Amino acid sequence: MPAIPRKKVLIVHAHPERTSITRQLADSACEVLGEQGHVVMRSDLYGMGWKAVFDGQDFPRRVNPDRLSFIEESGHAFSHGCQTPDVEEEQRKILAADAVILLFPLWWYSMPAIMKGWVDRVWAFGLAYGYQGAGNAHRYGEGGFAGKRALLAVSVGGPAQDYSPRGINGPLEQLLFPITHGTLFFPGMQVLPTFAVYGTGSIDAQGMAEATTAWRGRVAKLFEDEPIAFRPQNGGDYPDRHALGPHIAPDQTGLMAHVVNASRPLR
Ligand SMILES: Cc1cc2nc3c(=O)[nH]c(=O)nc-3n(C[C@H](O)[C@H](O)[C@H](O)COP(=O)(O)O)c2cc1C
Repeated sequence: MPAIPRKKVLIVHAHPERTSITRQLADSACEVLGEQGHVVMRSDLYGMGWKAVFDGQDFPRRVNPDRLSFIEESGHAFSHGCQTPDVEEEQRKILAADAVILLFPLWWYSMPAIMKGWVDRVWAFGLAYGYQGAGNAHRYGEGGFAGKRALLAVSVGGPAQDYSPRGINGPLEQLLFPITHGTLFFPGMQVLPTFAVYGTGSIDAQGMAEATTAWRGRVAKLFEDEPIAFRPQNGGDYPDRHALGPHIAPDQTGLMAHVVNASRPLR
């Protein structure tokens, strides 16, 4: 088998407990990537004491001291090199990375606040949105993070059945759509199908061993697996850049209309 060229991967995880499933998955990912010869960067958000709240302290040199406009200040701070050092460091890591893996426990159908705050603060205007000062010209498949891959690994308390296509909680890929589509694909990343460990409240050693084996397999194929077929904004499916053209998936509405062949379940 030909050697996979050496890549850089950023692993971001949000759990303070070393023995948590989230942390075990993060450690396994580091191991597999290291064995493949890739360079691993790690952002342990709790360990770093990451400031989760996006607020006025993020802008030490305000463009408008009278009214806090996050978008205006973010754009100014990013383009004038006056962001806070913690945000600059995370942007430096992402921009260096060929792939980003986000690992977190599912908390209220989403990521923990510390990771949401990582996105809020690091996804600067001019970089992750409003790319190159061109408004929404480059988004969904294009933008500051184009060419990078992204993968979520989520530990989920409830059983897989609750997240199945007709499950009571709703399908996991739809619950996580704001992250996969709205946060990662928006600035241009190619997003792989989410990896989930279900039923974590009652998982036993064998279940965990099986989950770890499956996860190691997914990490090993980080640069080979097919991304979710989200429709790019500028690929022709959105003639006015806002809504699907009438000829595209004419019978579909809702989130899954933005995935090509969405009737095929996302793993
Ligand atoms: C604040 C909070 C919110 C949670 N929300 C959900 C949820 O929305 N759905 C679910 O299935 N489990 C939920 N859980 C259970 C966690 O997903 C579970 O504790 C986690 O997967 C365990 O993995 P860990 O060892 O990585 O923490 C929640 C737990 C906490 C503490």
